[in-house]
Amino acid sequence: MRAVRLNELGGPQNLRVEDIERPEPAAGEVLVEVTRAAFNRRDVFITQNLYPGIALPRTLGSDGCGTVAAHGAGVSNPPIGTRVVMNPQFGWSDDPWTLNRDGSILGMPRDGTFAQFVTVPAANVYPKPKGLSDDEAAAIPLAGLTAYRATFTRGRITKDDVVLIPGVGSGVQTFVLLYAVHAGAKVVVTSGSDEKLARAKALGASATINYKTSPEWWKEARKLTDGGPSLVVDSSGGETFARCLDIARYGARVVTYGGTGGDAKIRPFSIFWKHLDVLGTSMGSPSDFEAMLRLFEGGLKPVVDRVYPMDEVVAAAERVLAGDQMGKVVLAIA
Ligand SMILES: NC(=O)c1ccc[n+]([C@@H]2O[C@H](COP(=O)([O-])OP(=O)(O)OC[C@H]3O[C@@H](n4cnc5c(N)ncnc54)[C@H](OP(=O)(O)O)[C@@H]3O)[C@@H](O)[C@H]2O)c1
Repeated sequence: MRAVRLNELGGPQNLRVEDIERPEPAAGEVLVEVTRAAFNRRDVFITQNLYPGIALPRTLGSDGCGTVAAHGAGVSNPPIGTRVVMNPQFGWSDDPWTLNRDGSILGMPRDGTFAQFVTVPAANVYPKPKGLSDDEAAAIPLAGLTAYRATFTRGRITKDDVVLIPGVGSGVQTFVLLYAVHAGAKVVVTSGSDEKLARAKALGASATINYKTSPEWWKEARKLTDGGPSLVVDSSGGETFARCLDIARYGARVVTYGGTGGDAKIRPFSIFWKHLDVLGTSMGSPSDFEAMLRLFEGGLKPVVDRVYPMDEVVAAAERVLAGDQMGKVVLAIA
């Protein structure tokens, strides 16, 4: 089968399409014939050696949709031929709040979705939401799950919230925007690109700020959120995260699931004086995944940025590396 392999570290240019052995599903697993896969920043971080536990060579890719092609021993469901999406999170414990110590994510250390076939535990495949194209379905899993848990399970969003979403162009943050608008909240977003801000407005953001052309963006954000957001969902980290804590209103929830901009120097005063809840989160539980899919069954559509043929995987990864995308970059496998 054809697969996108990473044989050595050094950046996205090292991704190669190669012919490798088709995997066999082990007991308890299914073999999925992949039609579409999608990128996450994680895939690019791995090529750059910016991720823990890298073992090469490996087929990358956490997101994908396709068709069940074979069963491992002991599996009969879902039936062969079922169109599915895959939950890339393995090893969530029975406790809804914790990941097992041996928890892992599809695409590292286990071979991922950037291939014609992938094996996953049968418990990790779910029927593809009706009404979504393969491009849209493949865009959902990792980012949609992370955003779901950040916004709903941890962020406890309500229609009365005023939400701040920094860096809305990010794959995950675009889902946060969709969910927050769906929840009926007022949403203010930032981005380094006016084009992305226009897209965000069309998707339902009430107000937008360009953090590159407004160097003191947090002052504007405080005004536009009526004195400070009641909910922030952030993955930028660095100074952006620190400023979010400074402008959040009394009693606000500030959720963090990433640190693209590095570590933050934060002011404890901003947290204790305003009684903030600072909430960490990472991907999500099987029940988060199921609840998220129900939203897409209900008609919500993910934002697909561009679809690249498998042979153009380096260009696709470089688009993510440059942060040029709005929403998800999809890889057409079949
Ligand atoms: N813990 C988890 O479960 C989990 C899951 C998924 C992702 N993550 C992490 O979350 C982060 C985002 O992942 P992703 O896949 O969504 O990445 P992505 O699609 O590559 O998005 C990165 C975005 O970050 C924004 N950004 C960069 N610098 C910024 C700044 N100074 N202020 C505000 N925004 C800034 C940019 O948004 P604009 O283009 O709009 O300016 C950029 O497009 C990564 O660090 C990733 O590792 C964690």
